[in-house]
Amino acid sequence: MAKKLTYEELEQRVKELDKEAVEHRRMENSFREFCEIGKALSMERKIDKLLPVIMTGLSKVLEADRSTLFLVPWDQLTLWTRFAEGLDGESISLDLKMGLAGVCALTKEIVNIANAYEDPRFNRETDSVTGFRTESVLCAPLVNKLEGVIGVLELLNSKTGVFSREDEEKAFKSAALLADIDFSDDAQKGRANALVDDIRQATECQRGCVFLLNKEKGELRSVIGQGLGDREIRLSLSLGIAGLVAVTGEELNIQDAYADSRFDKSTDERTGYRTRDLLCVPIKNQSGDIIGVIEAINKKNGTFTGRDLDLLKGLSSQVAMFIENAILANDYHVQFMSILEVLAASIDAKDPLTANHSQKVNEYATGIARELGFREADIEILSVSALLHDYGKLGTNENILKKPGKLSPQEYEHIKQHAKNTRDILSRMYLIRQYRNVPLIASSHHERLDGSGYFQGLRDHEIHFMAKIIAVADVFDALTAKRHYRDALSSEAAFEILEQGIGTQFDENIVEALKKYWEKQRSQQIASTG
Ligand SMILES: [Fe+2]
Repeated sequence: MAKKLTYEELEQRVKELDKEAVEHRRMENSFREFCEIGKALSMERKIDKLLPVIMTGLSKVLEADRSTLFLVPWDQLTLWTRFAEGLDGESISLDLKMGLAGVCALTKEIVNIANAYEDPRFNRETDSVTGFRTESVLCAPLVNKLEGVIGVLELLNSKTGVFSREDEEKAFKSAALLADIDFSDDAQKGRANALVDDIRQATECQRGCVFLLNKEKGELRSVIGQGLGDREIRLSLSLGIAGLVAVTGEELNIQDAYADSRFDKSTDERTGYRTRDLLCVPIKNQSGDIIGVIEAINKKNGTFTGRDLDLLKGLSSQVAMFIENAILANDYHVQFMSILEVLAASIDAKDPLTANHSQKVNEYATGIARELGFREADIEILSVSALLHDYGKLGTNENILKKPGKLSPQEYEHIKQHAKNTRDILSRMYLIRQYRNVPLIASSHHERLDGSGYFQGLRDHEIHFMAKIIAVADVFDALTAKRHYRDALSSEAAFEILEQGIGTQFDENIVEALKKYWEKQRSQQIASTG
């Protein structure tokens, strides 16, 4: 029999229950937030659209006023904001050796401070820039698979006053998830931003801008410019100060731009910015050729001095190195892709009827991926996998490949071997980190959602999503091209077959995306021929 409670005990129990209910509601709310984040993750692949959702979600879950994601370009010893609530998309960079986020990055440990202004390691500078008053701070490191710190998740001002142990745990787990996101494109952007920051700091100007020279087109193209957003500015070589510096290679210090006839006002008119004074120096590569120009615009106090000019010239060699590295990396990439294309073509050449098949599958697969909103870095991985998907046919008997009639069971088994061969051959290739899944993706293109495919008989969730894309692209091209055993089908007939396979063989969203891509291509073709 239950013990009879006294009135006091009863009152105590009610209080406890009340507390539990409040706690329960809090947990329910935070669960709902996590669901929202999950939903955003599944629908949106573009990181720039995702991050705001994730970060504001994290602020709510951790009951903080603000959250910031910093990335750490270690060669610069800075932290720069990849996303900061309340900063309106503007990016700031901070000295790694100053501030609590820096402490977190350097020690790889959680930093939980109740009152920032009482901590000597706190950097008050950011508050003075943003006008925000920091009280409590919680920082968690983003640690990647190689155990390196790539960034810091920072939460400011707990609504409950102080961040709890439980909050530390949540922040730690969230940071681990964020560390899985590939920010490699951004790392490059981060270094570029840091360079422009250097330009602004060194010369104490409002705006720094780097232009790259395109000799063939006779123009300068802005590659990085603080405060310009993602807008690209193109300048003709025959107009303006930057063009003049790019052509002559002589630096210029313009004290009053609008009074100088060489200054071209049209860019200001387009962007709504008012240039007062500017410094412009050429960027030269190691052979002394001009590859671009740097501009420092609007000195904060007074006008630019000779010392500013020397500082900017000093920076231009760093910028030159940065640009040359980027060009080199791009050259390697172009070379890598052209080798892959030749390899793919050599497989397609085994049979004249399948000429261009790999290239076509690549085109459809990347078209599908763009429709689905893939990031460029992921499209690359897909593209490499698509080009090489049939590479295992290297070991397939040509007579069987070209056989016009029905295949015998043994012959079919022989053909099926090519998927496994693709994996075995590609696994022997040295592929850099981001391409490590290529052998798996390429060799899974004959798997089916219901598990009846080959060579592993994988089921829906076991099949890499990119392999599902290649499967659809592969079948679509096979159906719409002539084969030894039948004529080419119309695209309508091919889509009908794909649709029949939805759920058992193909993913519905992928088939839909291919349809959209195909329709767009067709209307473009009609527009260009009509
Ligand atoms: Fe295949």
